[in-house]
Amino acid sequence: MKHPQSKKLSSSRSETLCGIISVPGDKSISHRSLIMGALSVGESTIAGLLEGEDVLGTANALKALGADIYKDDNNIWHVWGVGIGGLRQPQAPLNMGNSGTGVRLLMGLVATHPITVTFTGDKSLSSRPMKRVTDPLQQFGAKFTACENGTLPITVHGTKMPLAITYDLPVASAQVKSAVMLAALNTPGRTTVIEKIPTRDHSERIFGYFGVPIQLQTNQIHVIGQAELSAKNMTVPADPSSAAFLIVAALITEGSDITIKNVGINPARTGLFTTLIEMGAHIKFDNIRDQCGEDVADIRVKYSALTGVIVPKGRAPSMIDEYPILCVAAACATGQTVMRNIEELRVKESDRIDVMVKGLKACGVEVHEHKDGMSVKQSTVKGGATINTHLDHRIAMSFLILGLRAEKPIIIDDATVIETSFPGFGMLLNSLGASICP
Ligand code: S3P
Repeated sequence: MKHPQSKKLSSSRSETLCGIISVPGDKSISHRSLIMGALSVGESTIAGLLEGEDVLGTANALKALGADIYKDDNNIWHVWGVGIGGLRQPQAPLNMGNSGTGVRLLMGLVATHPITVTFTGDKSLSSRPMKRVTDPLQQFGAKFTACENGTLPITVHGTKMPLAITYDLPVASAQVKSAVMLAALNTPGRTTVIEKIPTRDHSERIFGYFGVPIQLQTNQIHVIGQAELSAKNMTVPADPSSAAFLIVAALITEGSDITIKNVGINPARTGLFTTLIEMGAHIKFDNIRDQCGEDVADIRVKYSALTGVIVPKGRAPSMIDEYPILCVAAACATGQTVMRNIEELRVKESDRIDVMVKGLKACGVEVHEHKDGMSVKQSTVKGGATINTHLDHRIAMSFLILGLRAEKPIIIDDATVIETSFPGFGMLLNSLGASICP
């Protein structure tokens, strides 16, 4: 999970991208599949698990907490769970690397077990806000030792006698919602989360799939704790947030025509696709189906002439990870694309507003920074810049995609961070006809 050697990658102007491909499994669902397997009684299996560093970090942490997890020769993951309430005291701190989802979900999980767990992370994760999770978890009775500003390293002193809570989410965050829901699993009685602005609902769906007693009402989620979960077989769809990079690559590269198989199209995740279609993108969803409680489709994308739009403010939660790559599409779209109400981007793996604005300017793109977002104008992408990725995988991948349209190559200073969510990114793009090289 460390990046001892940074590895530069360069991306050059490309001809047509064509082919039928698969992208790695959904990061959010992969974390949750491992966690639910670890809490069930018996053996769960997971096909299509994302084998990126973030998810592998969660697998290692769950092993340290008592679950038995291994991968077989057919790339199926097997998880022997400990049952609700069965997590054991780990022998060492859990290093969650770069993963905000991993650490926040696991803090929720351990908060209602009588164990003491220290979480650490890399430089990026150690600067991200954690009070948003420790605040509600304290209400269950857990205690925390953190740095002065509430950041990692954090030691969670889990409670032996958790109390069910009602929590009104002050921030639209699926990670916070899920931390509370996971804490509720080992808490007697009914925990309620009030969520006025809906965020991705993978936890709700997977709780239902694994048999957790859960009730969904408008803006409210009720979880009844201490049920026994039965092991399940999961298949994880491909990650729409990873597919997003390939989709924009095809849209901005003349003559392109690609198909991405088995992509998750949960409506809480498809804000970018909606926005791109409004911009004039040719995107078609085929073979739409249900897979283990999630919506899945094959997505066909063709090069399209794009027009800038004003992204509706309320769409942010359904595309919160996709604004960096939308900036790339926006630079290639006539007129201007306005993205507001996205202050949350400032506390992701990097300050994505600041880092995107600086990087786009360095590549010759006309961009204006707002306190709560950015506006990008159609530009001739000059390129020729080296981008500091600030340990942020989505910044790294976005600028490699921008390089496909640039007059001079765009270099990213550290491609190793892409391994957190999209192993094989450069090779996959090259298999379609791109030119990404060291
Ligand atoms: C995630 C939720 C989002 C997203 C992250 C994954 C999840 O974060 O940015 O990549 O799996 O719950 P927030 O919930 O903090 O917005």
